[in-house]
Amino acid sequence: MDPLKTIKSEAVSADMSFLEMLDVLNEELSEKGEDPVHFDHDCREGICGMCSLHINGKPHGPQQTTTCQLHMRSFKDGDTITIEPWRAKAFPVMKDLVVDRSAFDRIIQAGGYVSVNTGGVPDANEIPIPKKIADEAFDAATCIGCGACVAACKNASAMLFTSAKISQLALLPQGQVERKERAEKMIAQMDAEGFGACTNTGACSAECPKGISLTNIARMNREYFSAVVSSNNV
Ligand code: SF4
Ligand code: FES
Repeated sequence: MDPLKTIKSEAVSADMSFLEMLDVLNEELSEKGEDPVHFDHDCREGICGMCSLHINGKPHGPQQTTTCQLHMRSFKDGDTITIEPWRAKAFPVMKDLVVDRSAFDRIIQAGGYVSVNTGGVPDANEIPIPKKIADEAFDAATCIGCGACVAACKNASAMLFTSAKISQLALLPQGQVERKERAEKMIAQMDAEGFGACTNTGACSAECPKGISLTNIARMNREYFSAVVSSNNV
């Protein structure tokens, strides 16, 4: 892999977003006939999870937000900013700052879905759900799959991501059909992808731009153990 390279720009303003700063940098590189820096992005609104950069040693940089929501005013004029791709075996670097996060997609494919009967669309309020449960499921569902939790973890564990995806379905009536096997299948896929184990340091939740709580990991463990115990009893 190429070593770190220092690139200077005089055209950065405090009001630019971090990605706009990279756009400016790339325009300058292109004008000089040099290869632009490859980086991932899509929505630039903090919802797609594509903009995944390690900035000055922290996933998404100094604020607990997504890289696209970070602004250059978070840095001092003249600062040298170190930008790296996510570092995890399960997220291979494709080019410059772009990593392959399809391991997350395969974890979702393993069990992050619900079965529904075909037919007419049911009324939205047909199944009443207590507010507390709905709120917990919604909080888990705000995970955008950015991978900062993996990048922050010394073990490159994907437990926070996987537990959020399991929780958002396990909490709701619609998620009960596959409940028994969901945790087993998704955790098996997580392990197969090469993510590390959880040693409860909490770095994942501290760096998560959506504030996904560690309680989801506890819930995932309960889901897993109850699935294993009940499979052994049938
Ligand atoms: S749990 Fe947080 S850090 Fe991890 S993928 Fe989801 S939003 Fe990103
Ligand atoms: S580009 Fe979509 S979350 Fe940052």
